[in-house]
Amino acid sequence: MIRTIPTHPFDGQKPGTSGLRKPVKVFQQPNYTENFIQAVFDAVPPPGGATLVIGGDGRFYNRPVIQQAIRMAAANGYARVLVGQGGILSTPAASHVIRKYGAAGGLILSASHNPGGPDADFGIKYNIANGGPAPESVTEAIHARTQTIDRWLTMDAPDIDLDTQGTAQVGAMRVEVIDPVADYAALMESLFDFPAIRAAVAGGFTMAFDAMHAVTGPYAQAILEDRLGFPRGTVRNGVPLEDFGGYHPDPNLVHAKALYDLMMGPDAPDFGAASDGDGDRNLIIGRGRFITPSDSLAMLAANATYAPGYAQGLKGIARSMPTSAAADRVAAEWGLPCHETPTGWKFFGTLLDAGMATICGEESAGTGSDHVREKDGLWAVLLWLNVLAARRISVDALARDHWARFGRNYYARHDYEAIDTTAANRLMAELEQRLDTLPGTAFGPLRVAAADSFSYTDPVDHAVSRNQGIRVLFDGGSRIVFRLSGTGTQGATLRVYLERFEPADGALDTDTAIMLADLATAADAIAGIARHTGRTAPDVVT
Ligand code: G1P
Ligand code: ZN
Repeated sequence: MIRTIPTHPFDGQKPGTSGLRKPVKVFQQPNYTENFIQAVFDAVPPPGGATLVIGGDGRFYNRPVIQQAIRMAAANGYARVLVGQGGILSTPAASHVIRKYGAAGGLILSASHNPGGPDADFGIKYNIANGGPAPESVTEAIHARTQTIDRWLTMDAPDIDLDTQGTAQVGAMRVEVIDPVADYAALMESLFDFPAIRAAVAGGFTMAFDAMHAVTGPYAQAILEDRLGFPRGTVRNGVPLEDFGGYHPDPNLVHAKALYDLMMGPDAPDFGAASDGDGDRNLIIGRGRFITPSDSLAMLAANATYAPGYAQGLKGIARSMPTSAAADRVAAEWGLPCHETPTGWKFFGTLLDAGMATICGEESAGTGSDHVREKDGLWAVLLWLNVLAARRISVDALARDHWARFGRNYYARHDYEAIDTTAANRLMAELEQRLDTLPGTAFGPLRVAAADSFSYTDPVDHAVSRNQGIRVLFDGGSRIVFRLSGTGTQGATLRVYLERFEPADGALDTDTAIMLADLATAADAIAGIARHTGRTAPDVVT
């Protein structure tokens, strides 16, 4: 029996860079989660016979929301739900399942790299039929619906047994609890030269993968240990926990410090990698050599044809605006189109669907390709492994070789977290007002060549996105970008992205902090970071 539950709108149900992300306690308010899910179903009504994919990163509150979403999907006319066993589906695996089974869309329950647990964060993201995050037109329609919603629909039905693969019936809707790993692992095997990687492992190649007690544990064990032959224990922290063991499942040099220390120490394996809460991010560290995500994008693009899935070559490369221009140099040398999009994976979807790009990436540890419509942490790890095995080269040697050919874009992102929202908005507003006066001004040895607020017109659907960050470009290819995060849940987060280009005959192996020191000083002089926020140093440097 379908039941109609009266409700009233909540403020602030506006999806950010990647879905609706809030503290668990906010989602636990009566009707809050149901309102948002119903707003999705109202904004994107299921076509007849439609399938919905549901899965998440295993964090606290996943299970009750999955059960509720299943009942609501049945009441809203879905014919079939596919849900990962245990409620688990990594974000890239969910994207693949949506595409493979022709689903109308999917609900991905995750707050990505934000901490989990009763006092931490939760999130809901809606993905469309191409497997990718809903574009802004859809998220705006969802948000508009949350502001007028007055009822949500459900059914009287008991909870599904999420832990056993099989089928169940909820009203007229069929629920299939599927293996969350199998389809994804098969996709990876179709793209990469598994025999070459297996041969490298047999020849003594070693690695450490930190799953950070998040969703990639089962995927990494199935692929790296079971299929590629890395010994048991290669995958560390491989059991997904509802609170990620109390850690912050963000694969960067701050939160994956144990892996970094291992890779810089005397007992480092050949290759180190980590992924985040929902499995879409990646961290790549070779023995004694950290690879920035921007460099990783460029190096993977330059070497992708070593993998069977990309042997035909790339159609184009796309990167988010704050990501360094390292990939542009590869595109330029190969005569490939290179696209610069706003922050957030949703902007890559149209380019991938139109065949205008094959490989995409963001400075925030996101890399992926047209195999799905999300960034994909394990995909990046496997492409690296494939390239290293095929070229029989170390990460460090590959990086040096790349810089000697293309030059090096030194890069760092400085985050000022949980700052006062009013102060953050004032900083950005003042900066915007000063834009016209900046060109020609000198800051230490740096001279501003141009400054603007980044706007983007999607070349496929012509959608326009404004105010996507302030860019200050200096003579010689150095750059500072300022933007406010769209994923934080506490106050505002100011991100300052610093980049300096050194040509192939320049200083290619100098400490990044030293190379970027003048830019860091200029950033404060230009934006008044300390004056507005009271902070004299960033909370996180990645
Ligand atoms: C952050 C990253 C962005 C990424 C997003 C979702 O968004 O900067 O590149 O797409 O998380 O993983 P932000 O908080 O900067 O809006
Ligand atoms: Zn993520």
